Amino acid sequence: MKKVFPVAMHGWLSLMILVISSSLHPDSRSRILAQACKERLSTIGETAEVFDLAEKPLPLCDGSTAYGDPFVQELTALIQQADAVLLASPVYNYDVNAVAKNAIELTGRAWTGKVVGIMLAAGGQGSYMSGMGVANSLMLDFRCIIVPRFIYATGESFEGSRLADENIQQRVEQLVADTLRIAQALKESSA
Ligand SMILES: Cc1cc2nc3c(=O)[nH]c(=O)nc-3n(C[C@H](O)[C@H](O)[C@H](O)COP(=O)(O)O)c2cc1C
Repeated sequence: MKKVFPVAMHGWLSLMILVISSSLHPDSRSRILAQACKERLSTIGETAEVFDLAEKPLPLCDGSTAYGDPFVQELTALIQQADAVLLASPVYNYDVNAVAKNAIELTGRAWTGKVVGIMLAAGGQGSYMSGMGVANSLMLDFRCIIVPRFIYATGESFEGSRLADENIQQRVEQLVADTLRIAQALKESSA
């Protein structure tokens, strides 16, 4: 007998997308990218949560008592509930910043199997592969599905507190679309 998945009846399973912003800079550009993703998700009617690590600081991971911190527990629960996570980070020393790395250390296994998209703000064009370290770690540690479309933006793409680059805006829309497509397919296949 043919198996009927819920999606066949409803057409579209609802998704929860978590956007994490990891810069602590008051005028962060990666936060503008995170916000652009959130706005795009809202425009197309998808549920999105934003967790800004500048507003909800986490303790440094000690592998022990830090896991009991209320913001750590809140973030862990949001990652667990999410169908996909969009991580916006500054490039620091050819990697995501320590805040993003620390957040991943603190939330660990909550990332298991998640679809993950990566957005980076950088000082120059030369560090465009800087997302690969965190991508590899998430793939190998937690079998995350990394969306093969990164956003990488430098200072010229911003004017004050707004994104001012049509090409980067298009990439935001593509990242959101691809993330949703992959997350939807995975959700359907396990429904
Ligand atoms: C400690 C530190 C390290 C940085 N390392 C790099 C780097 O390796 N490559 C790069 O292109 N930019 C680097 N930058 C520049 C930042 O990526 C750039 O300022 C970016 O806008 C920061 O993101 P934010 O605006 O979201 O905080 C570094 C900046 C700082 C403060």
